[in-house]
Order: sequence, then structure tokens, then C-alpha cells
Amino acid sequence: MRGAEVAGRILEMLRGQEGYLSGAEMSRVLGMSRSAIWKQIRSLRREGYTIEARQASGYRLIAVPTHLTTWELQAGLGTHVFGKKIHAFIQVDSTNEVAFRRALEGAEEGEVIVAEAQAKGKGRMGRSWESPSGVNIYLSLILRPKILPNRIPLITLMAAVACAEAIEEVTKLMPAIKWPNDLLIDGKKLGGILTEADMEMDVINFVIVGIGINVNMPRSSFPQPIEDVVTSLREELEYEISRLALLQEILRKMELWYTKLSEGEGEDLRKRWETLSQVTGREVEARFMGAVVRGKALGIDEDGALLVQANGGTVKRIVAGDVTLRGW
Ligand code: BTN
Repeated sequence: MRGAEVAGRILEMLRGQEGYLSGAEMSRVLGMSRSAIWKQIRSLRREGYTIEARQASGYRLIAVPTHLTTWELQAGLGTHVFGKKIHAFIQVDSTNEVAFRRALEGAEEGEVIVAEAQAKGKGRMGRSWESPSGVNIYLSLILRPKILPNRIPLITLMAAVACAEAIEEVTKLMPAIKWPNDLLIDGKKLGGILTEADMEMDVINFVIVGIGINVNMPRSSFPQPIEDVVTSLREELEYEISRLALLQEILRKMELWYTKLSEGEGEDLRKRWETLSQVTGREVEARFMGAVVRGKALGIDEDGALLVQANGGTVKRIVAGDVTLRGW
């Protein structure tokens, strides 16, 4: 067992114990020395767990940290690949940047980076992503998909569907998806996805799926100029939502959809996306690199591109950019 796993098991045992749990009992159950147990208790303390140690009685869990930890995230996660390795930080520049660096160093598919805060959270199209501490979800997942680069947009759609379903599962509130990656409640932005890839010719080395969701962020923290077009789950529901439960559900749903996608069931994903999409059948304006296409959104094709029937009747494939619903 790796150190992190031992610490996780120790936490589970302490949680399941009313009073003190002796070091001898722990070393018997885990089959390791008492000094090895002590080492893990110290690393749990460093992570913010308050664990009392009393001579002749043993250890007792007094308080858990308010920030997300690897152990909390992995306990009861139940996935096969996603989140088998999780790095939880208090603050990073951007979880996508950390994930990118780790992937370049060879990190495996399914590795996850989460942070309490981001100093340089990145949004799409060079925008920044507001990332205050301790209230939201900032998550990046490393993938090594065996698909052609032109199908990468499907990964963003997969993540959007997984997030929408996870939010519904945890809160009963079903967000809408606006192509390609916006999660909306009543037209206000609740979350977004930034997919970045490292490729050579026709081969994808890795893809980073970055997810930001406004969970418990209060209205007072909404960025000023876009205050009226942003929301958080807390603002919508008027109660605090467990970031832990939501994060775990996102990983579960992503693994499910990713498995389907990898097994060639992209059509299921496309259909699911269409039912959650806000754009299909609506009049839209799509912009990318100075070009503007106005017309009716027909849906997405098998590679995840948005099909827009321009007013002249021709159908254009929009592979990247921003889409605005007319009348907004
Ligand atoms: C968007 O513009 O809608 C995409 C926002 C993506 C934000 C997330 S937060 C976690 C990850 N790290 C980043 O720097 N960005 C993404």
C-alpha cells in the first residue's frame, strides 16, 4: 500500500471509531509497524486533520479540514480510472497548467488536479476565470484518448453532459448546456469547461479537461462587469452545496460517458447533449476569429461541431468560438 492509501485507511478507521483507537490495533489491521502508522498520522495532521494522540489510549479524530483533500475525494469514489490519483492543492496558478505539466512528465490517464483557489484561472478564448478560495470547484483531468484530433470537441461535450448530470444528481437542479461548454441556469453562467490538447500531426498525446463550477460563491464575489450574467448553485438554491459530493459525482459521470465514447458510442452522447442543449433549433450568432455566422442552430455533428444554417440556407460547421442566442 502506498502512503496515501495507508493514510486513507487510517482516516476511515478513525471515522468509524467513537473514542480512541489504539496504535496497536491499527498496526494489526493494516499489517504495518506502529512507527509507519505514526508517520501517516503526521502527514494527515499536516493536511489539516486534527488528530489527538493520548498515551495508553491511542488516536482520536477531532476535526477535519474544510479544504478538499485527496483522501476525502477518494473515499467512496468508486471509479475505476478517474481519480485513482488526485492532487489537491490549496492554491495553484491554474489546475489546467498543473495538469499540463504533469501530463508532459508522463502522468497517466485519469489523474486529477483540484485546487481551492487559482491565481491565474483560465477561461476560453484567452479570458480569465474568477477563482476565489474555498467556495467553488476547479478541477482538471488528464486524458489520453485514442481518437483523431478532429473529435476532441466531443470530449468537451462529454464533460458538459457529465457536469450537468452530476449537478442534477446532487442538487436536483438541471443546468442547460450552451455550445460548446457553458453550463447555464436561467441563462446565467454557472460553469464552463476548458479543453486543452497536446498533439503531433494526427496523434493526440493528451487532453486536459478543465472544469470550473460556481458552487458556493456568494453574489458579492461575482466579477463586477458580468455580475448579472453569472450565478452559483448557492445563489440559486439558497443553501450550501457539498463540493466534495459534487466533485465525486462529476468524476463518476465523466468516467461513464468517457467509457461510452471510447467504445464508439458517440451517438448516445450526441443525443444526450441535444436534449440538454439550449441552442438546437434557436437563432444564434457564432463568432470565431473575427468571422460571424448568423442563422439557425441545427445541432451537432458526429465530431461535436455545431451546425448552423446561415440565413442564405447553407449549413456551416462551427468548430470553435462563441455562440450567442439571439435576443440575449
Ligand atoms: C470557460 O471559459 O467557460 C471555461 C472555464 C474553465 C475554468 C476551469 S477552472 C479549472 C480549470 N483551470 C483553469 O485555469 N481553467 C479551468
